[in-house]
Amino acid sequence: MDVAETSERHLSALRGIAGQRYVLSEGPDLAPYTRDWSGDYQSAPLCVIFPGDTEQVAALAAYCWQNGLAIVPQGGNTGLVGGCHTDDRLGAVIVNLKRMNSIRRLDAENYTVEVEAGCIVQEVQDAAAARGRLFPLSFGAQGSAQVGGAVATNAGGLNVLRYGMVRDLLLGLQVVLPDGQILDCRSRLRKDNRGLDLKQLFVGSEGALGIVTAASFKLFPYPAHRETALLALGSVDGVVALYNLARTHCADLMSAFELIPRRCLELAFDHQSALRDPLDAPYEVYVLIELAASGPLDLAGLIVSLLEEAMERGLVLDGTIAASQAQSQAIWAIRESMVEAQAARGRHLRTDISVPVSALPAFIHQAEQALARVAPNWQSIAYGHIGDGNVHFNALPPAGLSDAEAGKAIPDMLRAIYTVLDQFEGSISAEHGIGRSRLGAFLARQDGVSAGLGQSVKSLIDPRGMMNPGCLFVADKEG
Ligand code: FAD
Ligand code: LAC
Ligand code: ZN
Repeated sequence: MDVAETSERHLSALRGIAGQRYVLSEGPDLAPYTRDWSGDYQSAPLCVIFPGDTEQVAALAAYCWQNGLAIVPQGGNTGLVGGCHTDDRLGAVIVNLKRMNSIRRLDAENYTVEVEAGCIVQEVQDAAAARGRLFPLSFGAQGSAQVGGAVATNAGGLNVLRYGMVRDLLLGLQVVLPDGQILDCRSRLRKDNRGLDLKQLFVGSEGALGIVTAASFKLFPYPAHRETALLALGSVDGVVALYNLARTHCADLMSAFELIPRRCLELAFDHQSALRDPLDAPYEVYVLIELAASGPLDLAGLIVSLLEEAMERGLVLDGTIAASQAQSQAIWAIRESMVEAQAARGRHLRTDISVPVSALPAFIHQAEQALARVAPNWQSIAYGHIGDGNVHFNALPPAGLSDAEAGKAIPDMLRAIYTVLDQFEGSISAEHGIGRSRLGAFLARQDGVSAGLGQSVKSLIDPRGMMNPGCLFVADKEG
């Protein structure tokens, strides 16, 4: 049988399982699934499949397992590390979960929700809010990212400071294993010490151990009261003192503590002309703080007294507290827009670093110096979830540099920054994962025992290397 006949045979079998219209193999409709959000990766799978339920996912996996077809699981395709990529046209299919989007059970009294993996993160937030509950997972891509993708990347985002990452929120999981078996760890229990917590193996496994088909999460009381403030600082050196003051002063009611440098504000204003500077004068850096509470606490009093105290101590030079929901949204719109604005500048340096919160200013200064030595014309921007010690230390290319030239410069820049990071004993991936783009840097830093154990887990669950080969683990297809 020649290559074309083999492809047709596979396509016909896969259509038999998922249904004719749910297997896309050509045409412009493929584009949203084959090009990643950043535009850095363009995939060429045999097809993209949209199964309708867990049993179909299991049947698809079993067929692929028996016929030597690799599977790349896909959610909203918003990942930033090339996790959904495949260039193996004859040997890989993308399985996208978007049709599996039902909220199976929202138990408000138990503060839990069980959803199918294809649910959009924001839709879970909305469903919880409608019942007076908070699903705290929140990040820029929440309008497109799916729950399965969030579990597979152990997503973090804007509320980690208060509520933790996906790993901390997860109560139960259903996963289709590479050979088609269904692992059922669904649960609504908050306490359960029966043996190993197998579901946690799949959190952050980036589609390389199985396909997540359903998950249940903790919910929290919906914080009807929120206070948002944008505080201006003279330099990044003051953020640690401000963070310490804010956490104590606000009785740990902070749900976000985000660093935004002036350059990011300007990027956002250039990108979206409707945005306005909330303060009268420009400052070097800003911190976006949000307090949230469900009960009748005086959050307004807390944030005002925090601002007063911080100004008295000279930590904050100016600041604004949102007086309405619209003003709060306008501040958050700057935070969102500055990410899109970077993407609009084409190929650029993106990182996702964590160091101890107390070491952030020193790390940022040293990384800036290291970057200036290898790429003096690039503009560094350090922003992010610094209440979690997580900084996106990015850099934009000089005007006129092509994507290809920018791409060539990036490895040297990364090496320089990671060399500094290693001195701080930090992480090259705080929340985005490893995928394909960080695999080299990850493996180079893994100790032998961890690498061996990780590879043994992969071999145990996926001995044929059929699940997302080349992502997170070194590609090692049998035969
Ligand atoms: P995809 O991109 O589709 O997939 C990501 C990985 O998960 C791939 O390896 C894929 O194979 C695997 N996968 C997807 N679905 C499944 C499944 N059902 N079963 C098994 N494996 C699966 N991330 C953060 O953590 N914090 C942020 O603040 C943040 N902000 C972002 C802002 C923007 C503008 C963008 C574009 C991205 C941001 N991200 C952030 C990254 C990204 O949105 C998250 O990693 C998200 O969790 C990915 O979800 P997804 O459904 O799009 O997954
Ligand atoms: C952010 C994403 C990129 O924090 O993680 O904006
Ligand atoms: Zn982030």
